[in-house]
Amino acid sequence: MSGRIPREFIDDLLVRVDIVDLIDSFVPLKKAGTSFKARCPFHTEKSPSFSVNRQKQFYHCFGCGAGGNAISFLMEFSHLDFVEAIEDLAGFVGIDVPREAVEYQGQKQNYSALYSILEQVAVFYVEQLRDHSQGVKAIEYLKKRGLSGGVAKDFSLGYAPDRWDALASRFDQSLLLDSGMLGRKDSGGVYDRFRGRLVFPIRDKRNRIVGFGGRVLDESLPKYLNSPETAIFSKGKELYGLYELLEKNSKPQRILIVEGYMDVLALAQFGIGNSVAALGTATTKMHLDLLFRFTSELVFCFDGDAAGQKAAWRAVQEAFPCLRDGRQVRIMLLPQGQDPDSLVRLEGLAAFEGRVLGAQVLSDYFFEYVCKDLNLATVEGRSKFLVQAKPFIEKVPAGVFREMMFARLKKLSASSVLDVLGKPAMLEGAVTESTVEERQVKMSPIRIVIALLLQNPRLYELVEQQELNWAGLNCPGMDVLKEVIQTIEDIRPKNAAILMESFRGKPSEKVVNALINWDFFILDDGIEAEFSGALEKLIEQVDEGILERLLVKEKEGGLTENEKNHLCKLLTRKL
Ligand code: UTP
Ligand code: MN
Repeated sequence: MSGRIPREFIDDLLVRVDIVDLIDSFVPLKKAGTSFKARCPFHTEKSPSFSVNRQKQFYHCFGCGAGGNAISFLMEFSHLDFVEAIEDLAGFVGIDVPREAVEYQGQKQNYSALYSILEQVAVFYVEQLRDHSQGVKAIEYLKKRGLSGGVAKDFSLGYAPDRWDALASRFDQSLLLDSGMLGRKDSGGVYDRFRGRLVFPIRDKRNRIVGFGGRVLDESLPKYLNSPETAIFSKGKELYGLYELLEKNSKPQRILIVEGYMDVLALAQFGIGNSVAALGTATTKMHLDLLFRFTSELVFCFDGDAAGQKAAWRAVQEAFPCLRDGRQVRIMLLPQGQDPDSLVRLEGLAAFEGRVLGAQVLSDYFFEYVCKDLNLATVEGRSKFLVQAKPFIEKVPAGVFREMMFARLKKLSASSVLDVLGKPAMLEGAVTESTVEERQVKMSPIRIVIALLLQNPRLYELVEQQELNWAGLNCPGMDVLKEVIQTIEDIRPKNAAILMESFRGKPSEKVVNALINWDFFILDDGIEAEFSGALEKLIEQVDEGILERLLVKEKEGGLTENEKNHLCKLLTRKL
């Protein structure tokens, strides 16, 4: 991440890209009337209810309610964060993303300086490993652990000399501090964080070094040291070995998640190049979403001991919300006292691969784990089981897998309660509930005005012509309308997708997304008339409210001069 992306660039991007071409490159679209249709990529369905509108530049699924502009599509479909989606979209159109310099440490600076210093440090560490006077101990250690020169090279392993100032005396100290390579003493001085350690550069998926891990060469503690969190390094997002894995195979059939650096290296050396490790933290949902962008199957490898079991259960919990149809998670518990590094050396490639293929599927693991200490022969045991298991399954996104998990839950708990309690949610999924709600929303004048305005920002001209005093108008929903009008006034969007973009992350985002997707089934040349009609009705409604209030106030205690004039105006207008 480096600097904010200018707003104008995003707007421009949303004008340049054609959402039909973009989506068609992922999900083949068929023309149907004025829009394009396909089966929805976000939920399982037989007949296509996913529609893409070229004029408005957004997509909407009538089945599951998914919808948005080109940026939202990439975020959802490719599991990107906002900035990554912009970058991919720019790539699709064939342009570079400009960055505004960020205010950083009091001076304007770009994160690229941090990436660059870490790259230089990595080169330095590799040199130190090769340097006989320095690196000999580290080379011996690598040999002792059975690591080949080839793997050391592929992963750019290095050696951090056993000195307090090997980096501090060579490189820019403020960059070293900001990139986490130096620690600060109480006295204010600085010192190298990694000393006398074998070091593992950690790359992000785009081959930028974001941090390091370092292992001692003896039994001293701490055994491993990792870079701290910095502006460019977040442990919850990065995975060790991901870049190296993708370099060999950008679409692996499965990815193994192991616990340590050494496990990734040993497996790679034995020909299992598809493993990654979390960096001394538990795997997060962000990690899993990232990995599912490259593969449809994840296999967790954990030690078979109590700590490993606990870690496996935590990972399973994180995995539930990621389990869309077509994705699979399996759990592989290793024999007590073994980790992938020791096991692959002990048993060899074929046996280890056999274990991977035989790993337990998440559903089996889950039900076994939850039932472990319960007696399902009793009502008490079954109800406890139901209460414990249901919340997890509810986190699974709508789809066949979710249905089948519910079916199994029901069977195991022999519960007819689910028929009453769970069925709508179970068979149609949480997303559908919101669609039902959305469909029940009445088409009141204010909703029609907002929706048409969002979908056709050019209608703003008609609002302008009315010369209304918006400040004085009040009714439910008026705040949103005012916000929409203000936004159009401020950014003058060229299309609906750009307007929609400016609501991202705001409190009104949900309402705006719901209304922007309303389908009026009116032809283009009828839109203005529909809008004017609704606007007129809205103004009438608001006036009616004011009129009532003034009449009551008049009876109760009299009106100010201003109010009298207003009342008079309203009454004559009525006539
Ligand atoms: P392990 O203690 O299981 O080590 O830590 P390992 O991977 O088997 O390492 P070797 O074989 O003894 O060299 C697993 C992971 O936990 C993190 C590291 O990321 C390590 O790879 N860890 C462990 C730390 O961050 N700090 C520690 O002190 C220990
Ligand atoms: Mn180990």
